[in-house]
Amino acid sequence: MTTVYLNGNYLAMEDACVSVMDRGFLFGDGVYEVIPAYGGRLFRLSHHLHRLQNSLDGIRLTNPLSDCTWQEILDEVLQRNREQTSASNDQSVYLQVTRGSAAKRDHSFPDRITATVFVFSTPLAEPDPVDKTQGVAAITLDDIRWQHCAIKAITLLPNVLLRQQAADNNAAEALLIRDGLVIEASASNVFVVRDGIILTPPKGEQMLPGITRDLVLELAEQHALPYAETDISENTLRQADEVWVTSSTKEVLPVTRLDGKVVGDGLPGPVWQSMIQLFRRYKEAVRNGTEK
Ligand SMILES: Cc1ncc(COP(=O)(O)O)c(C=O)c1O
Repeated sequence: MTTVYLNGNYLAMEDACVSVMDRGFLFGDGVYEVIPAYGGRLFRLSHHLHRLQNSLDGIRLTNPLSDCTWQEILDEVLQRNREQTSASNDQSVYLQVTRGSAAKRDHSFPDRITATVFVFSTPLAEPDPVDKTQGVAAITLDDIRWQHCAIKAITLLPNVLLRQQAADNNAAEALLIRDGLVIEASASNVFVVRDGIILTPPKGEQMLPGITRDLVLELAEQHALPYAETDISENTLRQADEVWVTSSTKEVLPVTRLDGKVVGDGLPGPVWQSMIQLFRRYKEAVRNGTEK
């Protein structure tokens, strides 16, 4: 039985109910976070809570909880779902805040309304080892999303359609192109390696500032791997020696086929090999409680 947190209560998932008038359901009026926890320890929690605050500010919704209370709830959900997981106790926590439900369906914000807070966790499997040894396929698509992609909004219909187009083409991800530049992917950030230098687009309103992305750049900095945050043209993408996508659940995943063509020599590249070792070491340190 999976336990969830909903508006102050811990419940079995099948007993958790939200009003059909909830603005998350009617308008997609809400934001969310996905946070991995290794060995029961939340990965980069302060970064995720900071991004949550930015997302809430972006949709003009007051944070219903303090950081301290968020941590208590997330830890409690992880603890209650502990027996569902393998010995490693790796889980992924999903949290969602919507503007709540009102008696009337009206686009503008209701006067008095209480936010809906929902949290659940699921076992987090290691990324498929075949994907790590062979890499995955990706396709490029036009970025059809709105102009505030830095907000982690639950309104994900464009991302859903883009990802499905990738799936229809037997690809793991869709890399999104806007005005000739690579922005990010449908549910991950994008890196390319060119002449040994790790490149990723700079943060801005058009992309989600990934927590995994930031860690990859921090690890590059700490270990003197050359990198730059810079615009990446579609042309540079197509000439890349390596392409990676990053996210909380994909970690750092090599893309070895792009639009049906081989990337580099068709195998996960040497810079990725270095980065994934650093990333794994960091993850183990979180598990052991020596890193957050
Ligand atoms: C559109 C998009 N970009 C990037 C990411 C990666 O973010 P993170 O590393 O924080 O998981 C995600 C994660 O879901 C995403 O949905």
